[in-house]
Amino acid sequence: MKVVILLGPPGAGKGTIAEGLKSATDYIHVSTGDMLRAAVKAGKPVGLQARSYMEKGELVPDDVIMRIVTERLEEGTPNAHYLFDGFPRTLEQARLLDEVLSAHQGRIERVFLLEVSRQVLVDRLAGRRVCRNCGAVYHIRNIPPKIPGVCDICGGELYQRPDDTEATVLNRLEVFKKQTQSLIEYYEMKGVLARVDAGQEKEKTVAAIMQILRGGIQEA
Ligand code: AP5
Repeated sequence: MKVVILLGPPGAGKGTIAEGLKSATDYIHVSTGDMLRAAVKAGKPVGLQARSYMEKGELVPDDVIMRIVTERLEEGTPNAHYLFDGFPRTLEQARLLDEVLSAHQGRIERVFLLEVSRQVLVDRLAGRRVCRNCGAVYHIRNIPPKIPGVCDICGGELYQRPDDTEATVLNRLEVFKKQTQSLIEYYEMKGVLARVDAGQEKEKTVAAIMQILRGGIQEA
């Protein structure tokens, strides 16, 4: 089992870049945010547990996250490769992931830190629109749908995520600084961290990551 991790603040483009990488690799995209939103929508117990944290922009407890991630990994074959988006998010989650990987003879191939200025992050989150039906992600100016409010892929209605309101966005950025930033040092010490400029066009960020994954250069 090989794992690639996309690490970065809310709005850095983890989901967008994961979509680009998915089509260029055989990695299975695992987004804990998407899994939690699906559980909330389906009214599953895990969704009921997670909902209040998500609405406030707080992190969902580690035990809930580890449960959904390990269940997801158990569904795959032992040789599957995974692209984690939004996980791990705390040192505890990172340590527990290490344990899961060592139990499966797995390893972390790379952790990509998506670097973007704070102003760009706020603008991206304020302009984000998501398809209610298929989950495709747009931005009203940067990556607009052909018809405003309508998904290009399935014709579904586009909506604004409830945690993309200004107050919640500011809290999510604060939570990232307090609880997730320590992972940068953790993975730097392990020698697997690569910093990538994610403030540029998404195609360029995907290309920079692919180059590192193919062993072309150490960092972009
Ligand atoms: P999650 O869904 O993971 O949210 P997040 O980390 O806050 O990240 P986002 O999804 O907001 O942003 P992104 O980096 O994926 O950016 P995107 O590609 O959409 O988590 C939501 C909540 O779930 C958390 O707050 C927490 O409560 C809970 N949770 C999830 N995982 C957890 C965990 N492991 N532990 C505990 N709790 C957890 O792009 C953003 C916008 O920018 C879009 O509009 C996009 O079109 C646009 N854009 C992207 N790239 C570009 C580009 N290159 N140029 C121009 N525009 C771009």
